[in-house]
Amino acid sequence: MTKRIHIFDTTLRDGEQAPGASLSPEQKIVIAKHLADLGVDVIEPGFPISSPGDFMAVQRISQEVHGVEICGFARAVKEDIDAAVRATQAAERRRLHMFLSSSSIHLDFQLRKSREQVIKIAREMIAYGKQFVDRIEFSPMDATRTGDEFLFEMIEAAIEEGATIINIPDTVGYALPEEYGAMFTRVMKNVRGSDKVEFSAHCHNDLGLAVANSLAAIRAGVTQVEVTVNGVGERAGNCSLEELVMAIETRKEALDAETGIRPEHIYTTSQKVSRAMSFPIAFNKPIVGRNAFQHEAGIHQDGLLKERSTYEIMDPESLGVPRNMIILGKHSGRHAIKHRVNEFGIQLTDEQMEDLYVQFKELADKQKVVQDHQLLELVGHTVNAVLE
Ligand code: KIV
Ligand code: ZN
Repeated sequence: MTKRIHIFDTTLRDGEQAPGASLSPEQKIVIAKHLADLGVDVIEPGFPISSPGDFMAVQRISQEVHGVEICGFARAVKEDIDAAVRATQAAERRRLHMFLSSSSIHLDFQLRKSREQVIKIAREMIAYGKQFVDRIEFSPMDATRTGDEFLFEMIEAAIEEGATIINIPDTVGYALPEEYGAMFTRVMKNVRGSDKVEFSAHCHNDLGLAVANSLAAIRAGVTQVEVTVNGVGERAGNCSLEELVMAIETRKEALDAETGIRPEHIYTTSQKVSRAMSFPIAFNKPIVGRNAFQHEAGIHQDGLLKERSTYEIMDPESLGVPRNMIILGKHSGRHAIKHRVNEFGIQLTDEQMEDLYVQFKELADKQKVVQDHQLLELVGHTVNAVLE
């Protein structure tokens, strides 16, 4: 049966941790409403203990955003848990997301605690949180640099104390796809109680592998993936929502998976997040970048004008991307130029078209793109030249 993948959006928490990306509570509320329209399953709107503004944003989103589960984020510390529980009190559905490092590097240099101490903290804090919230997500931080034995022990302890979702993060974006998938397979096979919980992937993009790693986790049986809009996040960012969702949508049969995302909202949500964070989107960013559906090569333009699927694997209009797929430049051919001229209601004779083509190529050699108004000027010259 086709697997339903739950999309957990952390744009407003992990995404906002990108240097310079911070948002006001009002901006967070607007974006959370877009995320709900987009159809994400879970929103993590911030880190309630981190600032009064973040507490307020999580609280207001819990009150005002409907039809989606709201997640309160916390370290394995009572004060954090209390703040996350209070901030999400009004949510229709909620969960508590608690994290605690598991790798020796983090234990030795950051927490300065032994493995026994860390297991004890995990147990106590999950039991503490469980008094208030039934759905507890637990993340062993830096899991992909943690040896199997301790990772299994920590996850087993978390499940015993009542964690219902186990998120295994690739915190520093270190894993390779086959390794990340295999890690989930081993956890699911070896950890007692793993058949009773949902597994989740959380990937960072330091090596550009966040989407590939998340897909490998899905193949291994994970049913929740944590993502951010435009892939924003710490350092090189997180797994990009739009890339992951469209990979699943476009290769549904190969992956045997689906999401509840409404793709027609993807472009607007991406634009909203980019503007609110003042984070420009790379021109060549898949799905939402300016060039993602634009074509300059003459052969491609010719093919597209005959049949879209010759050079496109997704329909940009179904993602809400404004349709302007043909960029006129030095690689454009007669067919594309004629098509654009016709779109303005202008019909040229063969002789006029040839003259226009020569002038167009001269101009296109001097600049990157020929804009519509320049094309129309050339049409004017052409018509006059041919008439004279
Ligand atoms: O990258 C990470 O490890 C995280 C967790 C705290 C989930 O963001
Ligand atoms: Zn993260």
